[in-house]
Amino acid sequence: MRATAKAQPNIALIKYWGKRDTPRNLPAVGSVSITLADLTTTTCVDFDDALRGDVLSVNGVDNVEMMPRVARCLDTVAGNERAYARIRSDSNFPIAAGLASSASAFAALVVAADAALGHNHDTLYLAQLAGRASGSAARSLYGGYVELSNAGDDVALTQLCRPEDWPLRVVVAITASGPKAVGSTEAMEISLKTSPFFGRWVEQQDADLADVRAAVANKDFAQLASIAEHNCLKMHSVMWGSRPPMVYWNSATLACMQTIRDLQSRGLAVFFTIDAGPQLKAVCEPDHEAEVRAALSATPGVEEILCSGLGHGATQLDHD
Ligand code: DP6
Repeated sequence: MRATAKAQPNIALIKYWGKRDTPRNLPAVGSVSITLADLTTTTCVDFDDALRGDVLSVNGVDNVEMMPRVARCLDTVAGNERAYARIRSDSNFPIAAGLASSASAFAALVVAADAALGHNHDTLYLAQLAGRASGSAARSLYGGYVELSNAGDDVALTQLCRPEDWPLRVVVAITASGPKAVGSTEAMEISLKTSPFFGRWVEQQDADLADVRAAVANKDFAQLASIAEHNCLKMHSVMWGSRPPMVYWNSATLACMQTIRDLQSRGLAVFFTIDAGPQLKAVCEPDHEAEVRAALSATPGVEEILCSGLGHGATQLDHD
């Protein structure tokens, strides 16, 4: 019982930050993201009655640290009585550095596990399972522009626009490639308990979501840029106001923000967003990609640049 699936990370334009139900990992707020095309995680799940425990390898190296979370996710797909599994997960980009590697990893994991079992559950159901493991992973089951909303006691997902209907480009400036100091799950908990801005963040999210929905419907780049930067900086203000404060940026992150401001002042259609890590993600119109890439490459402290178009949701690759 073995199958392989592929999924891409997604970058939130309206951020998920905070949970309304921690045990079920349900978000406090809705979010909107874009699914990437060229950064991929490929995961093979092989349920094998001969195994005496689950075995996980990540990029060719045995990984025990992620095993409990991966095992819990497999339990939600296959049930507690399931056979143990051999899981191999390979990503073509740095993992655990604020590049949403857990999103593509858990999206690929649920699709591969479901296919290995021959269950063929629908995309929404698999997205809800992926979301239990990592909230942002639910969005990687869908392609293009994706909205995640709270619906009753679960989440609902909607594709707002197909990737080919508004094919923006994403240029990622990697400013530090090590794992982050505080993971998102823990950082959200700290924000919820201690940030004086957390309540306002939650209150204002519906207005930000309405703005981004309108921007996507009208393919209005200036409106998308304005609301996405606002929402990103508001999320980081929640983090900065927490105790202890969580500052994911380094000096190169700030230098990259200045680079984006300079490009904008020269009339380029580009904006930035930053997640729980020091990498800056620039979203731009295709005609401006080369210039954005060159400017970010020349920014002091940038170690590497990754470029991607927008892509489709997680897919099954093969099945034995
Ligand atoms: C800043 O999905 O990693 O990237 O549900 O606790 O696993 P858990 O959190 P995770 O959080 C993502 C936070 C973010 C914003 C976003 O992607 O919406």
